[in-house]
Amino acid sequence: MLKNFPRYPLTFGPTPIEKLDRLTEHLGDRVEIYVKREDCNSGLSFGGNKLRKLEYIIPDAIASGADTLVSVGGVQSNHTRMVAAVAAKIGMKCLLIQESWVPGVDANYDRVGNILISRLMGAEVRLVDAGFDMGASESLERAVEDVKQQGGRPYKIPAGASEHRFGGLGYVGFASELRDQERQLGFVFDFIVVCTVTGSTQAGMVVGLSKDGRQRNVIGIDASGIPEKARAEVLKIAKRTQRLVDPSISIQAGDVVLFDDYAYPHYGVPSADTVRAIRLCAQLEGIVTDPVYEGKSMQGLIDLVQTGYFPDRSKVLFVHLGGGPAINSYSNAFYTP
Ligand SMILES: Cc1ncc(COP(=O)(O)O)c(C=O)c1O
Repeated sequence: MLKNFPRYPLTFGPTPIEKLDRLTEHLGDRVEIYVKREDCNSGLSFGGNKLRKLEYIIPDAIASGADTLVSVGGVQSNHTRMVAAVAAKIGMKCLLIQESWVPGVDANYDRVGNILISRLMGAEVRLVDAGFDMGASESLERAVEDVKQQGGRPYKIPAGASEHRFGGLGYVGFASELRDQERQLGFVFDFIVVCTVTGSTQAGMVVGLSKDGRQRNVIGIDASGIPEKARAEVLKIAKRTQRLVDPSISIQAGDVVLFDDYAYPHYGVPSADTVRAIRLCAQLEGIVTDPVYEGKSMQGLIDLVQTGYFPDRSKVLFVHLGGGPAINSYSNAFYTP
């Protein structure tokens, strides 16, 4: 599906799939739980889902003659951290707008974790007082103009790389990689659980898996706290991506399955249930999930198993999209005196 699109390699290759034996047993052995380690997909600044997306965006950035990648996210954005790493890797400058998406943060929130790494990678980091939105960003537009006024050649990458026209392609590739791995494993996953915020990860999977009619087995767990917007974004990006890769398939609203029960109390703020899920996963499997994204999708996975959503003996694949570095900015949530 992607043969017509240039790809700039930023990842190691296919990501490992592992069985989570202790979590499976802890949850009663009714379903088998596996994880696909997108969090370990690259040596670039701890990796994560944005690198799959950026692999199909960077060729366009290079072809445009740009000298500066400009992007936006929250203060602890994983996406901006990965844009900073890629800019360093390809020898471009990087300007990052870090908006105030999360209320009530820890004291060192703007100094540790992702933003620390972005500074380390040489990005110019601008803290801006603007609230959470996965769509258009005025501060991003202003930053693009600033670069131009200073004689630079900016290349704009929207939040989460999702609104970019090629933003959904990376996770179309994920679907064909998964199909190859299923052939080697000798079975097919019944459900794929993924965290959703800006939408292009789930959208790409929906398009890629629609090739064999499995798009409704992708279970999105909303972490945005504004699920109707997230659902609309996934559908819009899926349709746009489908038109690019295969005009013969059609994506329907019902193809976007999104659970909205786990993002409370707010984007970027973990509930007591999220913290419990993060601890459980860490203590049973040694896997770090974060309070913004995979902590909430892990909470969703656990709840869906416990409430019997998945039929007995289902094989469920949890997709870990990265985000571990953000945990450093949530020390209060995990502090035990
Ligand atoms: C670690 C992590 N998990 C999940 C997501 C959600 O992916 P998307 O924004 O493509 O919906 C993101 C980015 O927003 C992320 O950084």
